[in-house]
Amino acid sequence: MQSQSLSAAQEMAIDPATCLGCHSNKISAAAFGDSVHGKNGCNSCHIQLTNLPMHMKGEVVVEKVHCERCHKKETSEHYSSVHAHKDIMCADCHTDVHTHRYWKQDKRVVVAKCIQCHDEEAIYQKSIHGTAVAAGNQDSAACNDCHNLHDIKSLGGSRSDRKSVV
Ligand code: HEC
Ligand code: HEC
Ligand code: HEC
Ligand code: HEC
Ligand code: HEC
Ligand code: HEC
Repeated sequence: MQSQSLSAAQEMAIDPATCLGCHSNKISAAAFGDSVHGKNGCNSCHIQLTNLPMHMKGEVVVEKVHCERCHKKETSEHYSSVHAHKDIMCADCHTDVHTHRYWKQDKRVVVAKCIQCHDEEAIYQKSIHGTAVAAGNQDSAACNDCHNLHDIKSLGGSRSDRKSVV
């Protein structure tokens, strides 16, 4: 396995420092290095970009990154979720993929992410659960305790029938 990936690396992978030589305007080397993906080369995700002269001529079509190559569990949970059905994919939520840090089960990180698209009326944020989580109480319920993190199902029915219970 190791010799296989070594020879693959010798054939094609490009040193991240080379990529960053041109892309440091958008991606900080330090923040990438400290991120959860800091030990991954750029080509581990951007697998098409192994030929720089062709890349420079714009001859390589850069595909969306396929997170599922490495993250099977979250991929299968997300697959049948309400988000996948609405075309909300991994990178739509994980917009910080080059700088992402471990969330260490801190519920505030989850809430901050989910409310980018939900809870416009701050029903959760004003609730007992929401104020307790915001104050750092990790025993109170956050979005993922009731809806899961990736395996999030449609609630069915029409919105007007519902009363919030948070
Ligand atoms: C010599 C400069 C240079 C180097 C080296 C370079 N790139 Fe680029 N790259 C560009 C330019 C120019 C563009 C197109 C303009 C832009 O989006 O910034 C681009 C675009 C991209 C895009 C966006 C493509 C799209 O269609 O949205 C990605 C992703 C990318 N490069 C990744 C890489 C990776 C990974 C490496 C190293 C393997 C790399 N680049 C090396 C200059 C470079
Ligand atoms: C963990 C996977 C991953 C790694 C590792 C990774 N990228 Fe990306 N990159 C992405 C994703 C996801 C996007 C957003 C586009 C998409 O959905 O594919 C992206 C977008 C980009 C873009 C276009 C950004 C823009 O704002 O236009 C550039 C340039 C780029 N990456 C360069 C790099 C370079 C250079 C490295 C190495 C230092 C790197 N990436 C490492 C996942 C990754
Ligand atoms: C080439 C393999 C690879 C690809 C492709 C990849 N990742 Fe990762 N990812 C990793 C590794 C390795 C870690 C660190 C795992 C660890 O430390 O346990 C990681 C960690 C993460 C974490 C943090 C996990 C945690 O425990 O908090 C998130 C979030 C994440 N990746 C999201 C993504 C997303 C979103 C994509 C697609 C845009 C992606 N990854 C693509 C290899 C990959
Ligand atoms: C609807 C938003 C959303 C989508 C879509 C999404 N994630 Fe996440 N994911 C989160 C949040 C929120 C967290 C926890 C906080 C954080 O890491 O930012 C998380 C955490 C993770 C973790 C760490 C898991 C853990 O148990 O600690 C990984 C790995 C990950 N996501 C990968 C993915 C991959 C791969 C996809 C696509 C198949 C994906 N995510 C799609 C919101 C999303
Ligand atoms: C204590 C459990 C609980 C917590 C915490 C919670 N929810 Fe809910 N949520 C529910 C239940 C139960 C419903 C369905 C209510 C009904 O149908 O009457 C719901 C409904 C929803 C709906 C659909 C209705 C609507 O208002 O659009 C969304 C979206 C939603 N929650 C997102 C979130 C987000 C985002 C968070 C965190 C900011 C969160 N929830 C926190 C239990 C919870
Ligand atoms: C990038 C935007 C985005 C983010 C971030 C996001 N969602 Fe969603 N979510 C949507 C969209 C779009 C839908 C489908 C349309 C709708 O019902 O609002 C949806 C639907 C839902 C539903 C089903 C609502 C129903 O009426 O059946 C729940 C529950 C939900 N999301 C919870 C969450 C939770 C929990 C998080 C954080 C882990 C989260 N969402 C993060 C965009 C997002």
